[in-house]
Amino acid sequence: MVTSNEPVYTTSNGCPVESQQKYQRVGKNGPLVLQDFHLIDLLAHFDRERIPERVVHAKGAGAYGEFELTDDCSDITSADMLNGVGKKTPCVVRFSTVGGEKGSADSARDPRGFSIKFYTQEGNWDWVFNNTPVFFLRDPTNFPVFIHTQKRDPQTNLKDATMFWDYLSTHHEAVHQIMTLFSDRGTPYSYRNMNGYSGHAFKFTKPDGSFVYVQTHVKTDQGIKTFTNEEAVRMSATNPDHHTQDLFTSIQNGNHPSWTVYIQVLTPEQAKAFRWNVFDLTKVWPHGQVPLRKIGKFTLNRNVENYFAEVEQAAFSPSHLVPGVEPSADPVLQSRLFSYPDTHRHRLGVNYQQIPVNKPLNAFNPFQRDGFMCVDGNYGSTPNYPSTYRPVTFRPVKPVVATAHEVWTGAVVNELFGEITPDDYLQANGLWEVLGRTKGQQENFVHNVSVHLCDAHRQTRERTYDMFDKVNKGLGEWIRLETEKLAQK
Ligand code: NDP
Ligand code: HEM
Repeated sequence: MVTSNEPVYTTSNGCPVESQQKYQRVGKNGPLVLQDFHLIDLLAHFDRERIPERVVHAKGAGAYGEFELTDDCSDITSADMLNGVGKKTPCVVRFSTVGGEKGSADSARDPRGFSIKFYTQEGNWDWVFNNTPVFFLRDPTNFPVFIHTQKRDPQTNLKDATMFWDYLSTHHEAVHQIMTLFSDRGTPYSYRNMNGYSGHAFKFTKPDGSFVYVQTHVKTDQGIKTFTNEEAVRMSATNPDHHTQDLFTSIQNGNHPSWTVYIQVLTPEQAKAFRWNVFDLTKVWPHGQVPLRKIGKFTLNRNVENYFAEVEQAAFSPSHLVPGVEPSADPVLQSRLFSYPDTHRHRLGVNYQQIPVNKPLNAFNPFQRDGFMCVDGNYGSTPNYPSTYRPVTFRPVKPVVATAHEVWTGAVVNELFGEITPDDYLQANGLWEVLGRTKGQQENFVHNVSVHLCDAHRQTRERTYDMFDKVNKGLGEWIRLETEKLAQK
């Protein structure tokens, strides 16, 4: 007879068990018996504790927070979250590294993921951003092969500098992102001390059919703070979980990190006449030409109670959008719209949106039924088709839009799109000049490249020097000098 209110230990079917340590066997030395459900239940569940880790961005940390709209955006979007100054929207955030496995070091040189899921009144809106404003590629077919080169060699299972630079030195559209990655921003001091960028253009839309292209910038209020290469390497050894710990303890201590959110806006006409292709993920929109417009601020104020339930099972996707926001035609973004829900169905199952951290405030779709791990009552007796006896209510999200936003016409073509042009080195050189504004940053960049590149084959090193010389005459030579000193050791 149980008298206290404390839960009592049971098997998974709720049967009380008198000791976790006891098990059934024949006599004192004999074999076990299959009827011992407590033992089998415990072992079988343990055997299945691991789910596939994310194929990229496997190591991460997360927390809950709130977005507050400080500047109204109703002139450019009907998105509920961005209409009405002062409106607050709850959110969950997950920060991550990209290339390493789930147990890898937080301070590795790597871009950082910066994902936010906003629980808005009209659905979950996910920002699946990085801490860099550009990316290594603009052609989606390159993503899987590029990622392979940043991970482990198929034979040795080791990270491989030749593989890493072999890809990058033969895909020069990556050079702008390489400049960012090998600057000290490639090793942030903590998740609290870095920015997030949409990278892609998205469309903000209005019910009248009009739209603008938007880039989003999420800037840290804690200030940018970075490790040097050597500090980052030391931290990998002394505390591989430094960023995870920093985020958790700072929130626990009431030191709530915040970020101010800005957007850059281009009308379709401006985008058409723009110096840069707005669908090219390897380019920024220079601040001088497209100024930042402040829209809000978000603050992280609550740690999760359970890491697996609320961080590991969080499922972000650039296709989780809300009325008033649409994807642009950027081909990398278009591919991502497919890839994330696809990987969630593989990693978490077809009902991943039922997991509490992913559950929208107001979802209702009785036509999506059954499937593995359907745990929300499965809509009970509600018809699973558009029944005339119990009709489903449809609500125009906003007044119906008659005009198409964009009209695409033409034959389907199957081509190489990503030809390298002199433009591909210009913004990389722009960043080289930005680094020159702060004492020591160019030197650190050259050092950071050299200590990595020195382990690559000679032919790959040579190709890499040539690539950097195209960014800035003399940069390749400077990197060669430093790298070859180390390579000869
Ligand atoms: P600006 O001269 O207006 O500003 C340069 C920007 O570079 C800063 O605002 C800052 O971005 C970022 N930055 C500053 N120091 C570093 C550093 N050590 N490592 C990496 N980034 C740094 O720049 P433009 O807009 O004319 O662009 C020049 C170059 O700046 C670009 O080629 C791009 O590489 C880089 N940049 C541009 C961004 C953009 O969206 N326009 C965003 C980030 C970088 P922030 O304020 O976001 O921290
Ligand atoms: C994670 C695919 C480009 C940001 C992932 C995951 C996949 C993926 C499969 C794992 C998701 C999961 O298991 O939950 C792709 C593909 C890309 C691409 C196919 C290009 C074709 C990008 C770009 C950005 C980005 C350009 C940033 C601008 C992220 C982030 C995560 C992630 C932040 C981690 C999400 C989380 O915290 O759970 N990506 N990606 N990716 N990606 Fe991408």
